[in-house]
Amino acid sequence: MAKVTVQFTCTECGTTSGRWLGRCPGCAAFGTLVEELHGSDLGSAAAAITPVPLGEVSADDAERIPTGISELDRVLGGGLVPASLVLVGGEPGVGKSTLLLSALGAIARSGRRALLVTGEESVAQVSLRATRLGGADTVEILAATELDAVCATLEKERPDVCVIDSVQTLHASGLASAPGSVAQVREAAGRLLRVAKEAGVATILVGHVTKDGSVAGPRVLEHLVDCVLQFEGDRYREHRVLRATKNRFGSTNELGVFEMTAGGLVGVPDPSALFGSTHPGEIGAAVGCVLEGTRPILLEVQALVAPTDLAMPRRVATGVDPRRLAMIVAVLGRHAGVALASADVFVNVAGGVKIEEPGADLAVALAIASAARGTPVREGVAAFGEIGLTGRLRATSQAERRVDECAKLGIGTVVAPVGTPARVGLHVLGAETLREAITSALVAATAVRDAAA
Ligand SMILES: Nc1ncnc2c1ncn2[C@@H]1O[C@H](COP(=O)(O)OP(=O)(O)OP(=O)(O)O)[C@@H](O)[C@H]1O
Ligand SMILES: [Mg+2]
Repeated sequence: MAKVTVQFTCTECGTTSGRWLGRCPGCAAFGTLVEELHGSDLGSAAAAITPVPLGEVSADDAERIPTGISELDRVLGGGLVPASLVLVGGEPGVGKSTLLLSALGAIARSGRRALLVTGEESVAQVSLRATRLGGADTVEILAATELDAVCATLEKERPDVCVIDSVQTLHASGLASAPGSVAQVREAAGRLLRVAKEAGVATILVGHVTKDGSVAGPRVLEHLVDCVLQFEGDRYREHRVLRATKNRFGSTNELGVFEMTAGGLVGVPDPSALFGSTHPGEIGAAVGCVLEGTRPILLEVQALVAPTDLAMPRRVATGVDPRRLAMIVAVLGRHAGVALASADVFVNVAGGVKIEEPGADLAVALAIASAARGTPVREGVAAFGEIGLTGRLRATSQAERRVDECAKLGIGTVVAPVGTPARVGLHVLGAETLREAITSALVAATAVRDAAA
């Protein structure tokens, strides 16, 4: 066997050293040297390999392994690709282990071999969860943290799918640094990648998320793996959102929505019905039709406008980009006659979903205008459209799909940029400007006064 040596390499400039140094002698950066393993037979003569034309390679997309959880399949791009490496990240307690155990259970029930390598929990603890979730009796389990042992087991047993919970607990014996350190995580992922490809095991790595929200074991891991899934949503609410931030075999725009129940995570196939309902007559709430990848979703946007004495009024956004909110507030003031200069503005999106698409602008603006004017958005109205800096509404992509989604959920009227197609049973109010859209979407102030009287 080749002799393996440990070296410390600077992640910035690549300078190597036999021992750890606080400051890189090459580029003078501090704290950039990380431990690495080097085989002494590197560069030894190897036989040449003959390349083959790509047309002669046979690969069948239908070979994907369905995980039995349709929302997970959707995010993966139609199931797990055999021999691929998937990284699932998420905050502690968000439900990573629960989701993956359910998936393994379904895979095992479909007649494939599913293996769970647990480094965090004992076999007994996992079995408690398995009893609660049910249907995971044929999942094989291995409690191990030794990287060599895990790799050897995978090579010998060759299961179809393997989940490693979590990659931060794996420990490569050659490295002196603690499990979870950059060197250890990188070594583990690199070795597992090779095993996954060679032994044909679709491997899912669970990774913890650091405080700034990135997957720990820095971004090195994200380059190695085929697919990076982020599991979001806070622990205190029951809805979780799974999205792909990288996917070599599918779109990164897909979104899976789950609900945490005592029986595990249940997919929510129709999130619009869940997130897109407002109470009629509620002031400061608007329904927007937002595109998440190829999937239109109706979301409730809530706003609160409160008078303030602060010289710099607060603009607080949850689920909306703060810069986008600042822009919408400015356009509302300048072009739509909704003055907010001496008011705090708070905006929240229902269900902990994050909106990253300009098509949601109009719904945010309507919620704020409703809160500022004290009149509700008319009943059964949804809105979408991008707001330009001139106060004009700009057409959004895939307007037809959004309109279809609104029609499907029984929305009566859609306020959207002019040119948006109508549907049977759905009235589309085309608006040229933001001011026009506010006029057609909000209940007239006199009507509110009459109702109160
Ligand atoms: N009996 C139960 N009923 C309902 N929900 C439960 C029950 N037991 C656990 N949960 C939920 O499961 C979540 C924990 O899930 P899980 O252990 O899969 O998270 P995780 O992401 O793997 O966490 P970690 O990073 O700590 O491993 C908790 O937030 C809790 O809400
Ligand atoms: Mg866990």
